[in-house]
Amino acid sequence: MADGGVPPLAVQEWVLRDGVRLAVRPATTADGPALRAFVDGLSRESRYFRYLTGGRVAEPVLESFLASATDGGVAMLVLVDTDQGERIVANGQYVVNQDTAEFAVAVDDDWQGKGLGRRLIGKLRELARSAGLHRMRGDVLSENRRMLALLRDCGFHLRRNPEDSMLHLVEVALDRAEESGGARAPAAGPSLSR
Ligand SMILES: CC(C)(COP(=O)(O)OP(=O)(O)OC[C@H]1O[C@@H](n2cnc3c(N)ncnc32)[C@H](O)[C@@H]1OP(=O)(O)O)[C@@H](O)C(=O)NCCC(=O)NCCS
Repeated sequence: MADGGVPPLAVQEWVLRDGVRLAVRPATTADGPALRAFVDGLSRESRYFRYLTGGRVAEPVLESFLASATDGGVAMLVLVDTDQGERIVANGQYVVNQDTAEFAVAVDDDWQGKGLGRRLIGKLRELARSAGLHRMRGDVLSENRRMLALLRDCGFHLRRNPEDSMLHLVEVALDRAEESGGARAPAAGPSLSR
């Protein structure tokens, strides 16, 4: 990040095409149980695409999501109000690795195809750019055609990971001057844990 501090993610409301209103806000440690319910409620395929496991996602992985913001990253939740209280329907995060936002998103299966994935990616991109980061990147399973199609449509550069054909590296430059110039080599360092 260029100079200290990610601009805070403002609490906001997103209205879907069908008129449903959703709250969007940063995640806090108090969201642990709701996050567990969200992740356990994903289909095996969605859980595999996001966390590389069809089984139970380990607690430290969820804890690291909730802690993303403490290292200059972002952890955002999209919530719907129900009779039983708020429920997470999607989330997005990035962690900062040098000048790069390493991101991932997930949308509850019943809420997919309503524009949430596109909007989450757009919001993370906006926040990363405002924070002075130069690029946004992620690892996507090569079989995750839907995510890859969405990212291509959002202007990301996609390429097969030369070291692991099961993964695609996806990347977009965040500087205005670089936007049309294609992607650079990804920054070295660990990827976002899934
Ligand atoms: C991938 C994912 C994030 C997409 O989120 P979503 O909310 O369903 O996506 P959207 O509704 O914003 O759809 C975005 C675009 O995807 C494309 N898309 C939708 N369904 C598609 C399909 N079946 N095949 C190909 N492209 C499709 C369309 O271009 C759509 O464009 P539109 O906005 O004009 O309709 C979501 O399916 C998901 O969470 N999957 C499981 C977890 C995962 O894969 N996370 C990514 C890990 S890196």
